[in-house]
This record gives sequence, C-alpha cells and structure tokens, in this order.
Amino acid sequence: MTSLRGKRILVTGAGSGIGRAAARLFWDSGADLILAGRRLPALQETLWVAKHVALDHADDAAVAAFAEQCPELDGMFLAAGQLVPGSVAGTSAETFDAMLAGNLKGPWLMCHHLGARIREGGSVVLVGSNIGLRAIPDSAAYSIAKAGVHMLARVLALEWAPRGVRCNAIAPGPVHTPMVEARMAASPDPAGDLARLATVNPLQRMGHAVEVALLAAHLLSDESPWTTGTVIPIDGGADAVF
Ligand SMILES: NC(=O)c1ccc[n+]([C@@H]2O[C@H](COP(=O)([O-])OP(=O)(O)OC[C@H]3O[C@@H](n4cnc5c(N)ncnc54)[C@H](OP(=O)(O)O)[C@@H]3O)[C@@H](O)[C@H]2O)c1
Repeated sequence: MTSLRGKRILVTGAGSGIGRAAARLFWDSGADLILAGRRLPALQETLWVAKHVALDHADDAAVAAFAEQCPELDGMFLAAGQLVPGSVAGTSAETFDAMLAGNLKGPWLMCHHLGARIREGGSVVLVGSNIGLRAIPDSAAYSIAKAGVHMLARVLALEWAPRGVRCNAIAPGPVHTPMVEARMAASPDPAGDLARLATVNPLQRMGHAVEVALLAAHLLSDESPWTTGTVIPIDGGADAVF
C-alpha cells in the first residue's frame, strides 16, 4: 500500500464522493489530514479524527484568511467541484460564472493562497475530468472549467518546479458519487443513462471513488517523484477509444 506516513495533506470536497474516499484512504495510509468543504457535519462524518475547516474554495477572502493560519503542508488533493449540466446555448451567464467559480476559480485560489505553504518535495493533485479532455453534449460550462483545471496543473508544475513541488491533474470518467446520482435523479431515463455511462469505456463499468483515490495517493506520495505537469485520465479506458 502507498505510504503517506507523516505527510500533512489538505483535501477539499472531503465531505462526499471522491474527496471523502480519498480522505479515508489517505488516513489509512498514515497521512495527517485537514479536510475542507462547505458543510462541517459532512466533513466530521468523513473522519472525526481529522482537522476540519468549513470553506467555500471560491471565496477569495475566506481562502486568504484560512491560508493565514494554515500550517505547512506536504500536499493538497483539490477535489471540490460541482456540475450543472447544459449546452452553450442553454446555459445562462449566471450558471457559467458559477461553474467557473466552483470548478476553476476554487482550485486557483487554493493554489494562489496556499502554494507557498507547500514544503519542498510536496505534491498537489487537482481533479479535472475526462469531459475536460473530450466533448460530450450538455456539460459545456463544467467541461470548459475542467479543461482549465488541467492547464492550471501544467502551469503550476512549471512555477513550482524550482521549489521541488509537483503538480498534476487527474481526469476521472464517471464515478458512483452523489454528483452522478444527482444528475441521474434529474434524468427522464436514469437507468438508461447509467447503463450508457457504464458502457462507453472498454472496462464496461463506472469507476469507484476509492479507485480514483488510489491514483491520487500515488501522486501525493514519494512513489512519483518525477511525475509533474501531467493530466492522467482514469476512466476505464474511455480516453483510449472513440
Ligand atoms: N463523479 C464523477 O463522475 C466525476 C467525474 C469526473 C470528475 N469529477 C470531479 O471529482 C470531484 C469530486 O466529485 P464527486 O463526484 O465526488 O462529487 P460530490 O460527491 O458532489 O463531491 C463534491 C464535493 O465538493 C464540495 N464542494 C462543491 N463546491 C464547493 C465549494 N464552492 N467550496 C468547497 N467545497 C465545495 C462539496 O461539498 P460541500 O457541498 O459540503 O461544499 C462536495 O463534498 C469534483 O471536482 C468533480 O467535478 C467527478
């Protein structure tokens, strides 16, 4: 098992889904954790023994204030994000702004304010999406924001390399989490949609949050010292095929 022993790692979006699975895996791997999200009870439910901070990652003043009192970190796993579906024509300017804030401005602010808190040898993992790599209908603003997250990882890899800090993005395909469940709940054909999501990749199934967490743990650990500036799809092979 990958070791994160002795590493202090901040996890956003830790109150559910991929962030929650990651927090629990990182804890089992020996990490000292700070869990962030907007709902404190959800963070506590993830892991009582961790430190918790209620934080909207898209709020510049709130992230700046948190950074003032945040101790030095060995890594960050920035999993917070949200999805409102819609085409370009069907997405309002307000929703577009919300998608950019919730998915791109958030990790930008976390890295802007907390980048200096990452120790030499540290690692930051951003969560993009495989639909930030390839277009699908009806997720325009979200996909565009996630494409920006991928480039943010590359830019930070360059900026932080002189300090020996790495930055990568992971690009998951569909994973069973509350985000996907909410989308299915709003669909006229949830069972059909779920079946389609599961069959677009060669492995013919959706992912599990812990499978994404395992990749994040590898990138945060000392097992990946020469890996930086990458965007790694984790999607059952969907990125490899049409
Ligand atoms: N599930 C998938 O199929 C899939 C595929 C590709 C990429 N992703 C990405 O993976 C990440 C995790 O998603 P998930 O599927 O685990 O969804 P999820 O269960 O809905 O988790 C998202 C988390 O982000 C937090 N969050 C949302 N907006 C926030 C904000 N403004 N400030 C702070 N925290 C915020 C939410 O917590 P609070 O509401 O408590 O703040 C929630 O815990 C997201 O970035 C998502 O875009 C997911």
